[in-house]
Amino acid sequence: MEKENQYFKKVEETYQFLKEKVSLSPDIVITLGTGLSSLGEKVKKVKTFPYKEIPNFPVSTVETHKGELIFGFLENKKIAVLQGRFHYYEGYSTKELTFPLRVLTLFKPKIYIVSNAAGGLNLTFKSGDIMIIKDHINLIPDNPLRGINNEKWGPRFPDMSRAYDLELRELFKKVAQKLNEEIKEGVYVAIPGPSLETPAETKFLKIIGADAVGMSTVPEVIVAVHAGLKVLGISIISNVNDPDNFKPILFSEVVEQSKKTEKRLEKLIRAFIRELSL
Ligand code: HPA
Repeated sequence: MEKENQYFKKVEETYQFLKEKVSLSPDIVITLGTGLSSLGEKVKKVKTFPYKEIPNFPVSTVETHKGELIFGFLENKKIAVLQGRFHYYEGYSTKELTFPLRVLTLFKPKIYIVSNAAGGLNLTFKSGDIMIIKDHINLIPDNPLRGINNEKWGPRFPDMSRAYDLELRELFKKVAQKLNEEIKEGVYVAIPGPSLETPAETKFLKIIGADAVGMSTVPEVIVAVHAGLKVLGISIISNVNDPDNFKPILFSEVVEQSKKTEKRLEKLIRAFIRELSL
């Protein structure tokens, strides 16, 4: 009880801190994952906060993630970009790692866009593919909503039947078609990490219905859905894991491949945001 009250207080405190310093109230919140920082540079910035200057924010321990919160305009829409995210494998609880997003939900944004780099399990995928997340499986042994529920933030038992908004997915596909981009769609499974999957685990993940595997995104999506936001989730398929012909998964290659795909995804997301009626 005490622990949760502390958390509620800290979220409110951080929200007040930001609100006093920036007049813009974002309609869209974006979390940029591994190697996807270039979109942040396209934002017409109103105000940028390094994470370490925001009270109560966690500090990123992964070098590929920048650690900045940007408020500004992208395609004339009011947005906040979380440049750099936190992961369960860094040692944070999912409540801690979703703290930045929870703070931003108090601005009452309507849409949450989240991207990640993921390993392909569906063997029709190839590295460099872009996948719309249509559903997820949470294998991280934690839930950011565990503990006392704050009724002001959302319901005790949030419905997850449409966690990834159908209209947003359709709009993204339409935009991709216009740009001549082939898009995949599939189920994302979140594992705790940081060790990568064994061939046997990869087989298991395929059997339970996942098309792509990664170590992020699901905790954030749970918080976003709890707060009533519509979610668009996108995975860059950085590698494909075939349990019957298993190759080592090198993190440097994951980063390199997502960097290569970054420009295409950036273009897609910008065109998508342009089409949103907010
Ligand atoms: N497994 C888990 N996480 C990942 C992978 C993978 O193969 N590729 C990128 N993130």
